[in-house]
Amino acid sequence: MQIAILGYGTVGGGVGRLVAQQQHQVQQLQVTHIFVRPTHPRTQPEMSDDFEAIINDSHLDVVVETLGGVEPAHQYILAALRHGKHVVTANKAVVARYLQEFTQVAAAHHVHFYYEASTGGGIPWLRNLEQAARVDSLDRLAGILNGTSNYILDQMASQGVEFEVALRSAQQLGYAEADPTADVAGIDVQNKLRISTAVAFNVDPQFALPTWGINGVRQSDIRDLQRLGLTLKLMGTSVRHGDHVAAVVAPTVVVNDSLFAHTPGNFNLVALHGESVGDLQFYGQGAGAAPTATAIVQDVLDIAHGVPHLHRDFAQPAISDDDLLTGDY
Ligand code: HSE
Repeated sequence: MQIAILGYGTVGGGVGRLVAQQQHQVQQLQVTHIFVRPTHPRTQPEMSDDFEAIINDSHLDVVVETLGGVEPAHQYILAALRHGKHVVTANKAVVARYLQEFTQVAAAHHVHFYYEASTGGGIPWLRNLEQAARVDSLDRLAGILNGTSNYILDQMASQGVEFEVALRSAQQLGYAEADPTADVAGIDVQNKLRISTAVAFNVDPQFALPTWGINGVRQSDIRDLQRLGLTLKLMGTSVRHGDHVAAVVAPTVVVNDSLFAHTPGNFNLVALHGESVGDLQFYGQGAGAAPTATAIVQDVLDIAHGVPHLHRDFAQPAISDDDLLTGDY
């Protein structure tokens, strides 16, 4: 199985290292191309900035996209699928926007489009969600899906610091991006919740999604909640009521003895509820080079071994956001 990695930043580099380190287990995988910017230092012989040459390599099987952002990732993914290459991506922004198009183009060209690493980092979340949706009637998803904002709220609660101080600490530790807007404004959670909701309820991920981040949260808010035995978490929640699907991203109050309240620092916790299975929860590292790389390599191995993921059309619109306001959840 010959692989091209597009982008060699944190996640792309993590994939390269994982494939090299675990060669005894993944002997059938070989990184033959690494697509980088023209200015990127050529530290490995596989590096090149010639995308056309890469996707025209007839020996290439899988394109792993770790560029991030919507464009040009969207165009590169489409081009790879149209050249008959399987695509595996960690890019939540592009999947949230174009999941339906990618799924349709992949099906038309008889290749796979897998995106486990886009949501929940190293947690095998989407594949379990997909499995649960196959046999059960799911009606609720809820999760802490952003490590940076979770770390900030955790620091505010445990160290008594203000938002700005906790954010600087998250940046120093490398959790937050240099521009942390998407993390603290809820956009990162929004993308991950769109993808999770699409998989769970088979809807087009581009539905109305009211979103609030944590940038307005003050130390005094956290203290007031602590006095009441409550904890504040940035959560994405999505519910299905018959044919209606509604979702919201918002700072959410949870009771101190819930698992959500005990999800520390840079970790994620995601939960689903199904009519038959009841509650299932998944906990682990939702970010970082090594955990995210494991999700990508799992997808590549699924392609190598012919393990199918559910092919849905994601065609139905998600209808209303009224359901969240009925008090049923
Ligand atoms: N910035 C993201 C986070 C990275 O903090 O969770 C993983 O998507």
